[in-house]
Amino acid sequence: MSLFDLEHRIVLGPFGGLSSVALTASVSEAGGLGSYGLYGYDGPRIRSTIAELRAATSKPFAVNVWLPTGDEAEPDAAQHAVFAQALQPFYEAVGVDVPARPERYLPSLEEQLDAIWDAAPAVLSVVFGVPSPQVVEEAHRRGIRVMGTATTVAEAVALAEGGVDAVVASGAESAGHRVSFLRAAEDSLVGLFSLLPQVVDAVDVPVIAAGGISDRRGVAAAFALGASGVQVGTAFLATAESAATEAHRDAVRATAAEETVLTRAMSGRLARGARNRVVRAIEASGTIAPFPMQNWLTGRFRAAAGERNLGELQSLWMGQSAPLARYATASEAFAELAAGLPG
Ligand SMILES: Cc1cc2nc3c(=O)[nH]c(=O)nc-3n(C[C@H](O)[C@H](O)[C@H](O)COP(=O)(O)O)c2cc1C
Repeated sequence: MSLFDLEHRIVLGPFGGLSSVALTASVSEAGGLGSYGLYGYDGPRIRSTIAELRAATSKPFAVNVWLPTGDEAEPDAAQHAVFAQALQPFYEAVGVDVPARPERYLPSLEEQLDAIWDAAPAVLSVVFGVPSPQVVEEAHRRGIRVMGTATTVAEAVALAEGGVDAVVASGAESAGHRVSFLRAAEDSLVGLFSLLPQVVDAVDVPVIAAGGISDRRGVAAAFALGASGVQVGTAFLATAESAATEAHRDAVRATAAEETVLTRAMSGRLARGARNRVVRAIEASGTIAPFPMQNWLTGRFRAAAGERNLGELQSLWMGQSAPLARYATASEAFAELAAGLPG
């Protein structure tokens, strides 16, 4: 099945908080689909980011948003203070104050979509749910294709019934958040080899395989299992064009598959990354605020740690194929992946 008329059916995964214009544009320029993660971006930042992407490439690209699930925490000031205080040692370690409660932890989906509609990227990809019929309709009216992300067959079916143009099948090997929305993430952990052919059998839209694909062998295997495209994260994350810090890139190259873990420590939601010092300490403390509060709270020291290249105090998201991510540049990674595409 063709995928959005791409020259090469390789999608760069979006990295909420860590996408870079350079990496997204580089994958689109190479004939794949670069994606940019807009998690946490407000309207003005979305408009300026999409303008930068357009300036960097005339080829199609995707942008990605997180759908609200309805259980986002709305803590009061007292709850905020308790959870913020629990992270005090990490603020102190990077020399920032324990942060006061913000006006909001995240911009609204409506604000994000308003900006996206105006900018009309080629593709909108979403996680954590099925976009509403109004969202799908508005996207299609503007010529924007919609991709949804499934961690189980039931989620893939729900997305296809919701009118998306393609489904990303996200195996539990993947880096970053488990984007499950029908059952708890812990109860939706299916490896890509099992998930992919079952999703292909269950839906009649193109299926994009994500999770653990880091070289030509992974790409060939995904197509053999019925994929119409692949979405790759970790392999691109460790390249020069990525926004990941040097410490994060080094950690990707140095972490064995079994050393990546699923943890709620950094964001309040289950996500895969390296079990570094901050993950171990927060897990041991037993105090983890719900999402999105925990993500916002850790974000205050993660940003400062990132500026100082302190890997032990960052979210070192990476997938189980981290040891295969050995490419210096995005074009090197792309060429290797493209070598596995069916002729
Ligand atoms: C730092 C980081 C942030 C991510 N953020 C998002 C996100 O905001 N939205 C999303 O759909 N996927 C996100 N992902 C998942 C990737 O887009 C991709 O699907 C995944 O990395 C594929 O698995 P792999 O890393 O094994 O290749 C993120 C991955 C990483 C490494």
